[in-house]
Amino acid sequence: MSDSQLWDDVDAYFTTHLAPNDEVLEAALRDSEAAGLPPISVTANQGKLLQLLAQIQGARQILEIGTLGGYSTIWLGRALPADGRLVSLEYSPKHAEVATRNLARAGLDKIVEVRVGPALESLPQLADENPPPFNLVFIDADKANNPHYVEWALKLTSTGSLIVVDNVVRGGRVIDADSTEPDIRGTRAAIELIAGHPRLSGTAIQTVGGKGYDGFALARVLA
Ligand code: SAH
Ligand code: DHB
Ligand code: MG
Repeated sequence: MSDSQLWDDVDAYFTTHLAPNDEVLEAALRDSEAAGLPPISVTANQGKLLQLLAQIQGARQILEIGTLGGYSTIWLGRALPADGRLVSLEYSPKHAEVATRNLARAGLDKIVEVRVGPALESLPQLADENPPPFNLVFIDADKANNPHYVEWALKLTSTGSLIVVDNVVRGGRVIDADSTEPDIRGTRAAIELIAGHPRLSGTAIQTVGGKGYDGFALARVLA
């Protein structure tokens, strides 16, 4: 058996027991695929991890950058109390439309708001509204802008908030200091920003499984 087949099989074992998709999550994936969205949502195990992190945070306000069809949004939204709020930023009107339907089916339309446009335009608009600090920020959009997203996350959070950055390994390409790929450069810049920032304490974890070899960075906002 190849290593990657084994990783998939172990992921399936953990998912079956610990993070099974219910009908709403299955439908979100099915309708995303039917609408032609790329199959790049977090895995079920990763979605459950995001949900647990949000619960550990006691999150009442969550910010997501990169909605796609709303699969990760549903996992995160289910961690919120009925009067919580999740703002998810999405560039593509088509993705946002699919997500909005998926979130309505999940019964999350009262607490989740999908905002369409380039996140670097939506973020200053959001900041102008002076929202209460977000307790968790999930960064999962265009990786080239990751350092900018971490900077915005710092402006929109407070002490104890958690910033999660998806896709920081990309099959190991993250270690290529000479890479000219915008995604790799953006990811490296975000890692180095977290590493050197006086208000952040972070780490990164490699993952294998349903989405191949990748990983998450986590950063806690300090005083
Ligand atoms: N978080 C989702 C996956 C997001 S995929 C999940 O796990 O279910 C990345 C998404 O970011 C795509 O839908 C893409 O359209 C969006 N995106 C890309 N560039 C963006 C930008 N500049 N601003 C906002 N969203 C962007
Ligand atoms: C891609 C984007 C993602 O957010 C992800 O989790 C996996 C792949 C991509 O753009 O290829
Ligand atoms: Mg991702």
